[in-house]
Amino acid sequence: ATTLRGYADARGARIGAAVADGPLRTEPAYTTVLNREFNSVTAENAMKWDALEPSRNSYNWAAADRLVNHAAANNQGVRGHTLVWHNQNPSWLANGNFSASELNTILKKHIDTTLGRYRGKIYAWDVVNEAFNEDGSLRNSLWQSKLGSGYIANALRWAHAADPNAKLYINDYNIEADNAKSDGLYNLARQLLAQGVPLHGIGFQAHFVVGQLPSSMKANLKRFSDLGLEVSITELDVRIPLPASSAELAQQSTDYKTATENCLGVPRCAGVTVWGLTDKYSWVPGTFNGYGAALPYNESYGAKPAYQGLSDGLNPQ
Ligand code: G3I
Repeated sequence: ATTLRGYADARGARIGAAVADGPLRTEPAYTTVLNREFNSVTAENAMKWDALEPSRNSYNWAAADRLVNHAAANNQGVRGHTLVWHNQNPSWLANGNFSASELNTILKKHIDTTLGRYRGKIYAWDVVNEAFNEDGSLRNSLWQSKLGSGYIANALRWAHAADPNAKLYINDYNIEADNAKSDGLYNLARQLLAQGVPLHGIGFQAHFVVGQLPSSMKANLKRFSDLGLEVSITELDVRIPLPASSAELAQQSTDYKTATENCLGVPRCAGVTVWGLTDKYSWVPGTFNGYGAALPYNESYGAKPAYQGLSDGLNPQ
């Protein structure tokens, strides 16, 4: 085993990548790396609500089906992303001014339809995404403001009924450290478990800045694992101020290794997903002005030092 997926398979872990539909369809170099190195995929956008149901009751499954079929053909698992979010909702939903009871019906239908279509083909779902504010309170999203915090338990219950074998996750960013936001999530997770709600895992997105991994990360993941929950890194990337120096690329490699070890060193870590493959396709430069070079492969699909860091993190020496 000298690939990422070879090392991950050897320890029963997932090594995943977020996949963009465009290059999946058109770039052989992209799929070559994806298939050789990764045993799990996540749709970067194709399973979000705006992509699946752009007009009400009118579905577009093409890109999501393409990824699920690609994964099956290449012996890869699929992480589903994401069902309940404040972002990337279709405008008919975001601007619809629905009553609470209408919204509940709409949400349940979305979950039933989406999980039903892929029942048995998706090993884990990010059921609820980015529900928290930085201070640990619940974000005043469409869902929270109309339905109250009970939408989280309801979504998990509906999802469990629709696909009983999928591991159901709450996923968020800036929860890698032990901080106010992860405390809020920890308290909610404990409550949900005490109430018997089918919550199975916590997704730590892990969008990092080079050299700034939180020192409390491993202990923080462990406290969630100690609740009996799976933990996963779901969206790892490590951004660098451009142009990246060789010292920064070396630090980035260390950061990939440390992040991977911080998860795999904790009981019940299911694996690590990187939010893209190549710097050619990454959300980072479009969002963080002046930053980029966040992924393990460069724009021409050459392995960066970060690739070796990820590999070392997966392969205990
Ligand atoms: O599909 C439209 C296209 O029709 C249109 O012409 C074009 C013009 O802007 O936009 C296209 O949509 C873009 C979409 O990606 C698909 O490419 C959106 O503008 C763009 O905002 C969207 O960005 C995605 C972002 O989520 C949106 O919130 C990124 O690709 C994706 O990497 C990012 O992923 C999120 C995770 O889901 C949740 N955690 C954070 C992470 C990074 O933001």
